[in-house]
Amino acid sequence: MLFKQQVWLRQKLLVLGSLAVGSLLYLVARVGSLDRLQPICPIEGRFGARGQAEFPLRALQFKRGLLHEFRKGNVSKEQVRLYDLVQQLPKAIIIGVRKGGTRALLEMLNLHPAVVKASQEIHFFDNDENYAKGIEWYRKKMPFSYPQQITIEKSPAYFITEEVPERIYKMNSSIKLLIIVREPTTRAISDYTQVLEGKERKNKTYYKFEKLAIDPNTCEVNTKYKAVRTSIYTKHLERWLKYFPIEQFHIVDGDRLITEPLPELQLVEKFLNLPPRISQYNLYFNVTRGFYCLRFNVIFNKCLAGSKGRIHPEVDPSVITKLRKFFHPFNQKFYQITGRTLNWP
Ligand code: A3P
Repeated sequence: MLFKQQVWLRQKLLVLGSLAVGSLLYLVARVGSLDRLQPICPIEGRFGARGQAEFPLRALQFKRGLLHEFRKGNVSKEQVRLYDLVQQLPKAIIIGVRKGGTRALLEMLNLHPAVVKASQEIHFFDNDENYAKGIEWYRKKMPFSYPQQITIEKSPAYFITEEVPERIYKMNSSIKLLIIVREPTTRAISDYTQVLEGKERKNKTYYKFEKLAIDPNTCEVNTKYKAVRTSIYTKHLERWLKYFPIEQFHIVDGDRLITEPLPELQLVEKFLNLPPRISQYNLYFNVTRGFYCLRFNVIFNKCLAGSKGRIHPEVDPSVITKLRKFFHPFNQKFYQITGRTLNWP
């Protein structure tokens, strides 16, 4: 009798336990989907006394699900009307620098509930064919967002392309411009590594970095090599300064974004006049990956693709020294113009 009662009790506990777990799972899913389906809160409630946008943390959940579909363009006209969605021109652009950590910066800023990223590099301002298609073409390439959110795109080629500053100025002379830089020699090697990988994928051979970076005739740094030229940040920035005042730029330390992303992101939030919403919770170090990865909520997290964070080939130390010496005066000028000292060697 006692044994029968024990079995009955155990079965009952099992059923109750399953019910509790089921309900919990249902609630988690429901809260997630509700968050994704409804505007975060009434418009008035989202702006603080000083006109700064105030977004509740739970709005981070918007980063997935239905809104994600909206952003990809998989959205019906009814849905656009129902949720007041719009495709907005960017209020801020990550203009470069290639291999500076532009993707990581964009993805990390996208953790902020007020930011919506354009997933693809659009290459509107640096590609004549795209530019000829007009500003409406560009706007249609933007993700769907709520009017209170800001759209950010990144195309690292903008930084080094001659025509781009004037073209962006014509679109919006008060746009905010983000430049993420890394120690110039490391950036040049990273740039080389990307090209090398492309060649290897096609079973092609390629020159060693040393051969490209140093002119064999003069034994000096080869300033014709694109990876070297791109790292002369001050030269490119000077072209931009003909159109935009320095206050419209924010320099992100790409080396620090790798090792300590949060303080860098907080500086960007400030620059964009956004309330601080990205927290340590949203960034966790993934030992296998060797980089910080992104956590949107209890369920969703992601690391950047494997093409980010490649292993660099070994480079002759004397070439590295030569390059660092070459970049040194340009770096000093860059610190002076931007007001951000990065203590590169
Ligand atoms: P390496 O591949 O040289 O390591 P971009 O997106 O502009 O092409 O920059 C790529 C660089 O972003 C990578 O260069 C990598 O070091 C850097 N990076 C910064 N934060 C990262 C992160 N959390 N995950 C992966 N790569 C990151």
